Amino acid sequence: MKLFIDTGSVAEVEEIATWGVLAGATTNPSLLAAQSGDPGERIQRICEIVGGPVSAEVVAEDPETMITQGHALKALHDHVIVKVPFSAAGLAATRALADAEIGVNMTLVFSPSQALLAAEAGARYISCFMGRLDDVSIDSAQVLEGIVDALRPPGSPAPWIDDGALVLAASIRHPGHVVGAARLGCDVATVPGKVLRQMLGHPLTSSGIERFNSDWESSPSLGRWLDGLVAGTPAGAASR
Ligand code: G3P
Repeated sequence: MKLFIDTGSVAEVEEIATWGVLAGATTNPSLLAAQSGDPGERIQRICEIVGGPVSAEVVAEDPETMITQGHALKALHDHVIVKVPFSAAGLAATRALADAEIGVNMTLVFSPSQALLAAEAGARYISCFMGRLDDVSIDSAQVLEGIVDALRPPGSPAPWIDDGALVLAASIRHPGHVVGAARLGCDVATVPGKVLRQMLGHPLTSSGIERFNSDWESSPSLGRWLDGLVAGTPAGAASR
């Protein structure tokens, strides 16, 4: 499962992109509104940093304006994926944008039947909001499982290969949502920075590193040995 970052903040993308785990990013009107600076420049900068698909959302209610906004967003950068909220108008806009070879992320999808319609309209990504389902006591894992099974019945080809619709888990609230989405066979999870940082932590990892370091430091000859080993390498020689 690929990991995208869910944010409107260039600084957050810059920070987490250094980990080497990001395959893309998603924004939405709320995330963009929560940050300052020109939204177009921010979307372009995020595209450059992640070097992969970046979703930017249309905000109209009629298909014609959605399509016009979609083309304008796509013109910002080749990595832009146009995010379209689910509705009948959204389906019509998705079909038109897909026919124009503009990738669409159909968002605010909350059921397998909506997901089937989005896939048939040509959406490349289908975003199901786990956190918002849980907020209203609907089991998000069950809904997501239904969407994956509906779009990918047993024996169907892998969507990364046949350009089929990719299931994107969104509205992620904690690391359990990310692991759950992976286990259910989702293709992508878009994760807020806060949750990505939470995924780093484990007490045994921290205590293990501490112990290795203190054991190593308890015998300085080991440090000298490694310094010597490094000094003997071209990189080591270059760093001196
Ligand atoms: O970007 C879409 C989605 O991930 C936002 O979800 O519930 O955190 O606003 P939420």
